[in-house]
Amino acid sequence: MNGFDCPSSCPFVAAQHPALEFSVGQIRRVASPNDAGDVDETKRNVLKLAAVAALIGAGGGLIGGTLQALQPPIIGISSYPRSQLIDVDGSPLTVAKVESEYNVGVSELHLFDYPLQNEPNFLLNLYPANGEPPSPTNPGAENVPGGVGTHGSIVAFSAICQHLGCPAPAIAFYPPGTCPQTPGGKVFYIHCTCHGSTYDPANKAANLTGPAVMPLPQVVLEVDPSSGIIYANGEGPPTVNGHLSTLTGDYGVGTSVQLVQEAPILSCATFPS
Ligand code: FES
Repeated sequence: MNGFDCPSSCPFVAAQHPALEFSVGQIRRVASPNDAGDVDETKRNVLKLAAVAALIGAGGGLIGGTLQALQPPIIGISSYPRSQLIDVDGSPLTVAKVESEYNVGVSELHLFDYPLQNEPNFLLNLYPANGEPPSPTNPGAENVPGGVGTHGSIVAFSAICQHLGCPAPAIAFYPPGTCPQTPGGKVFYIHCTCHGSTYDPANKAANLTGPAVMPLPQVVLEVDPSSGIIYANGEGPPTVNGHLSTLTGDYGVGTSVQLVQEAPILSCATFPS
C-alpha cells in the first residue's frame, strides 16, 4: 500500500495557497478554501505561544532561541466576503443613488475598506457629469472593464499606491480639468502625489506613468438585480501593496461596509513633465 494519497476532495491543495516568504518561526495558518469568514489569528496564536512558553518551561530553555524569531501574529481572512456597500449617509448604496450623486466630475473621494479594515478602495462613477454619453468633448467613460450600473461606469480600485504604498488622500482621483497635464492623453485619472504614479480608472487602473509598474487591484462589484444594491465580492490582482496577500494583514470587514468621504490631495506639481 502506498503512503497517504490526498483524495480529490482534500481542501489543502498546494496550488490554492501560493508560497509566501515567511521568516523562520513565523506562524502561519493555511486555511481551508471551505473555511469562509473571518479568522481570529490572535486567539489562535496566543494559544500557540502559550504552548511554546510551556515547552520552554519544561525544557529548561532548550528552545529559548525560538522565541526571538517569533513575529507578531498574522491576521486575516480565508476568503473574500460578500459585503453590501453603505453610502456615506448610512443608506444602502444602489445603482440609482450612485448615478444620481456620483459622476466623473465629483472631486471628493469616496472610500470603503475591503476586504480588510486597512485596505481602502475608491468608489467611482466615470459617467459624464451632465448625464449625456461620453465623447471627446464630454469627458467620461462607459462600459469599462468590471464596470456595473446602467452604463457600466461604476468601478472600485484599491486606494493604496502600487509604488511604495501611499494611501488616499495622497493617491486620489483627478476629475477632468483638474490639472493642465494629461498623462497618457487622459483627462481624468488616479494620481499619487508621493512620486507621481498615475493610473487609468477606465482601463483596470493600468499604469499611465511610473514609478509604479503594477495596476491598482480592482474590487469586484456586484449588483442585486431586484434592489439595485451594490456589493463588493472579490478583488483582482495584484496584491494590495504592502500586504503579504490581499486577505492578510488585518481583520476583515463584515457583511456590510460604509463609504467615507475625504478631501483629496491634488498636486499638479507632481506630474511627470
Ligand atoms: S507611493 Fe505612489 S508614486 Fe510612490
